[in-house]
Amino acid sequence: MEKEFTRILAETIKKRRTRKPAQFLKEPPPRKLIKRLLDISRYAPNHHRTEPARFYLLSSEKIQQLGRLFGQTVSKDGQDPILIEKGKRKTKEWGEAPGLIIVTCHTDTSSELVRKNPAVIDEDYATCSCICQNLLLLLESEGIASKWSTGPVWEHSDFNKVIGIKNSEYERVVGIIFYGYSHQEVAPRELQNIEHYLTEY
Ligand SMILES: Cc1cc2nc3c(=O)[nH]c(=O)nc-3n(C[C@H](O)[C@H](O)[C@H](O)COP(=O)(O)O)c2cc1C
Repeated sequence: MEKEFTRILAETIKKRRTRKPAQFLKEPPPRKLIKRLLDISRYAPNHHRTEPARFYLLSSEKIQQLGRLFGQTVSKDGQDPILIEKGKRKTKEWGEAPGLIIVTCHTDTSSELVRKNPAVIDEDYATCSCICQNLLLLLESEGIASKWSTGPVWEHSDFNKVIGIKNSEYERVVGIIFYGYSHQEVAPRELQNIEHYLTEY
């Protein structure tokens, strides 16, 4: 018989689905709860105990600013009407999100540790990816929907200044995590049978 904890964990993992920011209700989840979930999310495997994740928890004003930056990023040089239209859509979609966290991975590439173990760069990124998934699952368990995006807003020249990236030389964005309450239910994803990918001895 499956243990109760395993059942709940399995259900949470399978139930978590990406919901678009447009599917979120306007009311932002309590900031105190989000900070607690961020704190817990950091308990992920981390080779060399480098604690690489950095979090930027945005206000609604910052979310709107970020939306404008992404709109400009998408519309490129502002010459193509299709891209201009897409940029406007993205500005609105991102700017109206009730909650947004940017997760970055900080690795000091000039350090002795990285010089001796270049794999740390990938390993730190792997840890940050685990942290992002922890966060999405924790949000899900609190009834909060989410979307992990890598829309390349960091390509905008004002990104570091607007977000206050502390160490732009050593930080790269892992996830732009949108979150909010949502009434939208999405069925679990259908995956290939595990036998398809499993090599067993
Ligand atoms: C690393 C990563 C980057 C992603 N970037 C984007 C993105 O830029 N835009 C987007 O619409 N979805 C993005 N997604 C969401 C995926 O498209 C989504 O997870 C996928 O369609 C599977 O759906 P599910 O999360 O509901 O299972 C990203 C997901 C991951 C894990």
